[in-house]
Amino acid sequence: MTRSNQQLMERRQKAVPRGPFHVTDRFAVRARGARITDAEGTEYIDFTGGIGVVGTAHSHPHVLEAVKRQVDLLIHTCFHVMPYEPYVRLAEELNRRTPGNRAKKTFFCNSGAEAVENAVKVARAYTGRPAVVCFQNAFHGRTLLGMTLTSKVVPYKKGFGPFAPEVYRIPYAYCYRCPFGAPGPEVCSLECAENLRELFATGVDPDSVAALVVEPVLGEGGFVVPPARFLYRIFEICREHGIVVVADEVQTGFGRTGALFACEVMGVVPDLITTAKAMASGFPLSGVTGRAEVLDAPQVGGLGGTYGGNPVSCAAALATLEVIDQEDLCGRAKLLGERVRQRFLRLRDELPVVGEVRGLGAMMAMELVTDRSTKEPATDLTQRLGQYALDHGVVTIKAGTGGNVVRLLPPLCIEEADLERGLDVLEAGLKELSG
Ligand SMILES: Cc1ncc(COP(=O)(O)O)c(C=O)c1O
Repeated sequence: MTRSNQQLMERRQKAVPRGPFHVTDRFAVRARGARITDAEGTEYIDFTGGIGVVGTAHSHPHVLEAVKRQVDLLIHTCFHVMPYEPYVRLAEELNRRTPGNRAKKTFFCNSGAEAVENAVKVARAYTGRPAVVCFQNAFHGRTLLGMTLTSKVVPYKKGFGPFAPEVYRIPYAYCYRCPFGAPGPEVCSLECAENLRELFATGVDPDSVAALVVEPVLGEGGFVVPPARFLYRIFEICREHGIVVVADEVQTGFGRTGALFACEVMGVVPDLITTAKAMASGFPLSGVTGRAEVLDAPQVGGLGGTYGGNPVSCAAALATLEVIDQEDLCGRAKLLGERVRQRFLRLRDELPVVGEVRGLGAMMAMELVTDRSTKEPATDLTQRLGQYALDHGVVTIKAGTGGNVVRLLPPLCIEEADLERGLDVLEAGLKELSG
């Protein structure tokens, strides 16, 4: 049995295609709390949470217990063959906890992309319309429709066409790089939101649009937090035209932004919400929650899948919600986020490579640039900073179309000493590499 990271990587290269990428060249063996141990026994502070999945903690004892109990009882029947209670209970929880107090329903699938695909299916069935509107810098997954809705071409789309038809894209409210040239939020007339009206005049008939799919905060696109007014306005325009608003909360959901869902922080209520990632603390599970009459539009048998809403994943998700409540993880997200924001802002004062510090709750990031006036993405520096952090015991991940955004998604249970130590490493690395 080979043991070293390098030997394992050699086996991986032979056995697995190059397509699935890696942020690090270290093989994980075990993880607890906010720490991961690799094949050589080296321990790392985890600033990624498996890309926003491990929201509570690696193997949180309460989640572990619930999973073990469920495994002993029932692992799989397929919800379509013989239903089981944890699925229904989790649906009830999400119906109650998602924004908006209209009658809601939820159904489950396996991945974020699958949730987005299904939200669009449901919206099409409800409206009888074909088209979908999405945004620049959006990420919605890697399936055919998911990658079509996704904005970034390399690596997500190049070579993979033809894409799904009837998808229209408009700019997001990326204020740091305002697509309409507004010099700052104080002089902003929300041209980006009004651009939706322009699309309906020159790009697609709004009467043929089933859904608008939007991340309330861009995830892979670089942790871009739009003004709440932007979301409010586009939701309003969609309502004028009977378009179903889908908030993709796959990355923002389950406490990360300081509330269970980012839409709550933003004060907006979508028709449908897609969830995945942190919902089940690492077990594959995703869902679509929203207005009951919209979710009831597809015919019996029109929604589903073999594994969707697996009993073990549902048990993990129910326990995850309990942990979020019991440990006030929404409050903790705000606290951690504020710590990170203050550290990043200090760095911004010192180092011209830090172009912008932004985020919501514990979804914090800094965008690195080679020059503050040109805002040229510091792609290479961001890559080197990730390697520096890894070599000093911290796993980080980047984001942004330019690959120049350092984003933090640590498990919310992270010890404050670990958070500070990880931030010390990022600070030292940035000073050394940009000096
Ligand atoms: C907002 C958003 N939607 C959808 C997805 C796709 O999720 P999955 O990788 O589980 O298919 C992601 C993944 O990062 C995401 O961030």
